[in-house]
Amino acid sequence: MAHFTKATSLHDWLNQRLAIDAVRRVMATEYWIPKDINFLWAMGMVLAITFAFLLVSGIFLLMYYQPNVKTAFDSVNYTIMTEVDFGWLWRHVHGVAASVVFLVIYIHMFTGIYYGSYKKGREMIWLSGMLLFVTFSAEAFSGYMLPWGQMSYWAGMVITNIFSLGDLHLNGLVEWIRGDYVPAQAFLNRFFMLHVLLLPLAIMGLIGLHFATLRIPHVNNQEGEEFDFEAEAEKYKKGDKKGSKVIAFANDFMSKDMFVVSIYLIFFFYLVFFHYDFAMDPVNFDPADGLKTPTHIYPEWYFLWSYEILRPFSTNIGLMAFGFAQVIYMLLPFLDRSPNAVPAHKRGAFKIWFWLLLINMIVLTAMGKMPPEGIFSTIGFFAALSFIGLWIALPIITKAERKL
Ligand code: HEM
Repeated sequence: MAHFTKATSLHDWLNQRLAIDAVRRVMATEYWIPKDINFLWAMGMVLAITFAFLLVSGIFLLMYYQPNVKTAFDSVNYTIMTEVDFGWLWRHVHGVAASVVFLVIYIHMFTGIYYGSYKKGREMIWLSGMLLFVTFSAEAFSGYMLPWGQMSYWAGMVITNIFSLGDLHLNGLVEWIRGDYVPAQAFLNRFFMLHVLLLPLAIMGLIGLHFATLRIPHVNNQEGEEFDFEAEAEKYKKGDKKGSKVIAFANDFMSKDMFVVSIYLIFFFYLVFFHYDFAMDPVNFDPADGLKTPTHIYPEWYFLWSYEILRPFSTNIGLMAFGFAQVIYMLLPFLDRSPNAVPAHKRGAFKIWFWLLLINMIVLTAMGKMPPEGIFSTIGFFAALSFIGLWIALPIITKAERKL
């Protein structure tokens, strides 16, 4: 048993039992962040805050939402939106946060790609980030089912159909996932459970893992410079704050992060109050009808790029291309064969690859929203082929890269 003395304050009492001073040092006042980073490095904090908004608004919505195929639609569109005080506000916050979180995730991912933050000991940061991306995608999809509107129902139908795996005709697997032949009560129940319990728990665990993976390799910096964090931290602690290449997470770096977060919050609440509709499909304001297929079924904007990789090919090839798109980002640290962990603008061919990939993702997203006909279909087809081509080219161009 440890030795306890009579506490002189509440702080001292807690410190003797929970070592709160040591925790604060390790997690905040002596957690070192490079100075040479820009506003893009605040996206991680923006994501954490957006997730907190999703959790809190979700808890409020849960008080009135009814996971029943007969009442779900009305519980959202009438009870929450018109009858519950400020129900509309919590729904707007939840809907906007669900959409904006993907915009920020994509910015965060492409920042990581641009600066090579997945390389040389940072592979686990990347992999845990990708696991977060996959879990967030499942969370968004399961949430989209809950209002039980037309798009909920038909997107649920189309996406679960993918599990029949084309000519393998695994219909048993599709029915097992749905708990029925078509999306119905069992389907809504299980997606409700996934959305409000299992996936949020998984996300919280993964955020913890993602933070832990940052601990040893530390956060990257704008020049990809490698330096001795311990030595730089010593300089900082001795008072040479100007000469040191690092600053403490709290309060120094936190205050910079919070500045970016504040600007983000202005944009976020502007959307919540004035453009909430951007995050909602008008078709989903019609209740689910299994006998009336919408003329054009498409997912939310953040899934359009991978949907467009599935669509232009025949069923089996489309499924393979879709599977490729789902796993390929995960493999990035192993496909990039270059020894250089520096920003893309110093890496020749990789710089061109990066911008082509970004443009390609935007074209795929735009085409995914269009009906699959005429010129849209042709552009979508070539964009999907280019996506696959770009990833096949990556190991070749990075292998040829000169060591800097
Ligand atoms: C809710 C989801 C996420 C949260 C809360 C989160 C949070 C953070 C935080 C706080 C940081 C450190 C500061 C920064 O660079 O922004 C970070 C770094 C990083 N994250 Fe995430 N992240 C999330 C999702 C992702 C995803 C989807 C990826 C992509 C695979 C990813 C990849 C990375 C990488 C590579 C770094 C290292 C950046 C560097 O060293 O410069 N994260 N994340």
